[in-house]
Amino acid sequence: MAKDASFICTACGATHAKWSGQCDACGAWNTIKENEAISTGPGPRVTRGSALTLTDLATTEAPPARTHAGVDELDRVLGGGLVAASAILVGGDPGIGKSTLLLQAAARFARGGLKVIYITGEESAGQVQMRAQRLGLTESPVKLAAATDLRDILTTLETEKPDLAIIDSIQTVWSDTVSSAPGSVTQVRAAAHELTSFAKRRGMACIMVGHVTKEGTIAGPRVVEHMVDTVLYFEGDRGHPFRILRAHKNRFGPADEIGVFEMTGRGLAEVKNPSALFLAERGAATPGSAVFAGIEGTRPLLCEIQALVSPAPAGQARRSVVGWDGGRLAMILAVLEARAGVAFAGLDVYLNVAGGLRISEPAADLAVAAALLSAREDTALPESAVLFGEISLSGALRPVAQSEMRLKEAKKLGFTTAIIPPVPSRRARMSTGTPADRAALPEVREMHDL
Ligand code: TYD
Ligand code: MG
Repeated sequence: MAKDASFICTACGATHAKWSGQCDACGAWNTIKENEAISTGPGPRVTRGSALTLTDLATTEAPPARTHAGVDELDRVLGGGLVAASAILVGGDPGIGKSTLLLQAAARFARGGLKVIYITGEESAGQVQMRAQRLGLTESPVKLAAATDLRDILTTLETEKPDLAIIDSIQTVWSDTVSSAPGSVTQVRAAAHELTSFAKRRGMACIMVGHVTKEGTIAGPRVVEHMVDTVLYFEGDRGHPFRILRAHKNRFGPADEIGVFEMTGRGLAEVKNPSALFLAERGAATPGSAVFAGIEGTRPLLCEIQALVSPAPAGQARRSVVGWDGGRLAMILAVLEARAGVAFAGLDVYLNVAGGLRISEPAADLAVAAALLSAREDTALPESAVLFGEISLSGALRPVAQSEMRLKEAKKLGFTTAIIPPVPSRRARMSTGTPADRAALPEVREMHDL
């Protein structure tokens, strides 16, 4: 077996042959720590020389049984409900609402007939009870335990035999068989490994909470991502009430699926129509504002992209971006300058996705470019228009997937115009000789044509 690399980044889990001050995988400082090997006991017994065909598998393995939380936003992100004998990691910044979400989910699952135990290492059982009271969940048959010792936790699970165990958080769990401090990479990995294999053996679902950490003393959730079946991250901006639960990895469903919630005085509420919510604060047409018709997971999601362009002090032009990729913004600015002759030199550029949303689709390129131009020219875009389309380095506008779904959502929300990549004619698509990049002008479509 290959020898483990002897240093590991506690933030992203990347392994390194030697220590350094900065992790070159994630860029974090002071997060590289010595990697101690985890003793996991004898490996699984393998029957050598036997093989199965895919058809054999089909007859022995039934599709995974799923239980619905009754929280649509959560069920969707899980890929259609909770799968028995699965391990799920829910990561997120401290204070974003992970414990709140999972306590509410625990109550729903318990009301649906699952035996649920919520094990907390962060708070006392009394504190969790107080939170349950605040959330109006005191009637739910969820069992509570406060424990951090892995041995105690496994004994509790052994006696209680729950269908679902929630461990809040994996960073507080420690095993006395591992010599390093609680919260270290080795401890977190060993705890996640034991809990995951227990879950698989006993057919129990296990949800582990992991805080995203900024400094290197406590291991971040990324060091256990590869051990679990599903990785969900709870995102959001503390200054906004909206929270997004996003599937980063899912063995039982599509990745990139999102669930949208709103933090209220009585816990998290599901947001059934996120587009309306993300556009709610949009005022009358203002320069620098563009509405992007995006897709998150399997769902269309409209949001507002805001740009501000202002003169910069000589030689110090700033590019600041919230909710989108800074590299992609630099690319759009370069394309606008090189291909359209619109220079942003000597100007500060600020870009923001409203509502604390984070988008990664290249389909947002056109809306970003439009917001930038609109801000630069101090001219508002038509209020009733949505935009989408990918921009290539040549300056061409590229079609994007699921246009119809984007347009339907926009129409539903009362938009009347869409500024989108031209749909290539059948002949243009068939001919391989002409570069598709020639047809660069966007098409303006009226919604009633749909
Ligand atoms: P919490 O679930 O404790 O976050 P995490 O487990 O991710 O650290 O949520 C903490 C925040 O949520 C806290 O700032 C208060 C807020 N909150 C509400 O706004 N409403 C509520 O009903 C609850 C329970 C929490
Ligand atoms: Mg918590």
